[in-house]
Amino acid sequence: MTQSLLHQILDHANRANPYPIYEQLRKTPVHHEDGGPYVISTYYEIRSLLHDPRISSDARNLASTARDPLAEPAREESALPPGFLRLDPPEHDRLRRMTNRPFGPPHSPHRVDGMRGELHDIVSGLIDGIGDPGRIDLVEQFSYPFPVTVICRLLGVPREDEARFHTWADTLAASLDPDPDADPTERGKGAHDARMQLGMYLAGLIEERRRNPGEDMLSQLATAKGEDGAMTTMELLSTAALLLIAGHETTVNLITNGMLTLLRHPDVLQRLREDPRLAVPIVEELLRFEPPVQLVPQRTTLADIEVRGVTIPKGASLWLVLASGNRDPQRFEDPDRFDPDRRDIQHLGLGSGIHSCFGAPLARLETQFALSELARRLENPRLLEDPPPYRQNAVLRGPRHLYVSCDGIRP
Ligand code: HEM
Repeated sequence: MTQSLLHQILDHANRANPYPIYEQLRKTPVHHEDGGPYVISTYYEIRSLLHDPRISSDARNLASTARDPLAEPAREESALPPGFLRLDPPEHDRLRRMTNRPFGPPHSPHRVDGMRGELHDIVSGLIDGIGDPGRIDLVEQFSYPFPVTVICRLLGVPREDEARFHTWADTLAASLDPDPDADPTERGKGAHDARMQLGMYLAGLIEERRRNPGEDMLSQLATAKGEDGAMTTMELLSTAALLLIAGHETTVNLITNGMLTLLRHPDVLQRLREDPRLAVPIVEELLRFEPPVQLVPQRTTLADIEVRGVTIPKGASLWLVLASGNRDPQRFEDPDRFDPDRRDIQHLGLGSGIHSCFGAPLARLETQFALSELARRLENPRLLEDPPPYRQNAVLRGPRHLYVSCDGIRP
């Protein structure tokens, strides 16, 4: 029996190459199976819904009858309130504005740019520590530790506490990527404990920063008194946790998908080695071609909405398949070709509309540094396994390991 398209998207067997499924999906831009979510797969429809105020990001608006295999389980009492990713205006806008004050223009135009030296040092340190060039796991040894270290520096986590932060981030990331053979009760308990410990640690750090503020983002968030007032401690905690979670697995996957794609396109890798400035268009094309966030689940309709002749009822669950929109031939010429020289590249890889990626400038810079330094320093790199083994997760898609060998590491 042929599997439904929904099952095919979720089936791990299709993780290495989900794009033929998306091509099938686009034949029915609004796809709906058996009372499940409405799956939207064409570029213009996704973009328009991402900008539509009748679409909510708040799971509380989901009708109790809506069935969605990706719906998050009910929140535990001890869990933090939702971060602004899962809130609608006006709460979303207020928290995003306050978080942006110490992060980006107009109040903090130099925050991300000012991290260049630090990003370079972290990347260099990780590549220096690689060891045996005959068998490198780029995920474990590079992509995975890099973004957590960056978030620690951004928030102002003291160096001596970074290792603890890595452990919690790893446990939380693993809970997003359930191993089907693992005991779900044990896994749930591990993630719960990690969330509690991270929350308690951050609460302590916030108290400390209120007493002795520094230049870091957490200090500024904890002491801010802008026109929106101050964040409560709970809001601060969920915002800090959101930055960690939203900026972790996504960046890991963009860097790993990036190296995989470059190793499959050695001509582009060679060009990057010769001209590191090419990292800018390469990262944009990667966000189109192999986006780490394949789809945005858990959007909910606040009214009946008509899309391409289909009425989606109020309270329905939507999946917006960004990765499919990025390969829509109605929008991009020759969409299955990886082409960093592409001029017209308004991809959906960082979302669009009010929830578009808050960390985008940092994510771009991190990945540009990572890819250009890996291209420069790894001598004659080769894939040891293609396709690599993929993580279970269909939403945050990326390799679990990326085994590469090279002839040596340049200084
Ligand atoms: C390559 C890496 C990244 C990718 C591909 C990515 C992708 C995305 C996407 C697609 C969204 C929209 C989600 C939606 O519409 O529901 C989003 C939102 C968000 N991202 Fe990123 N992200 C990346 C890195 C980061 C980093 C490094 C940070 C933090 C420093 C971050 C923080 C956020 C936050 C806070 C939101 C919620 C924005 C809102 O609701 O207003 N992201 N990201």
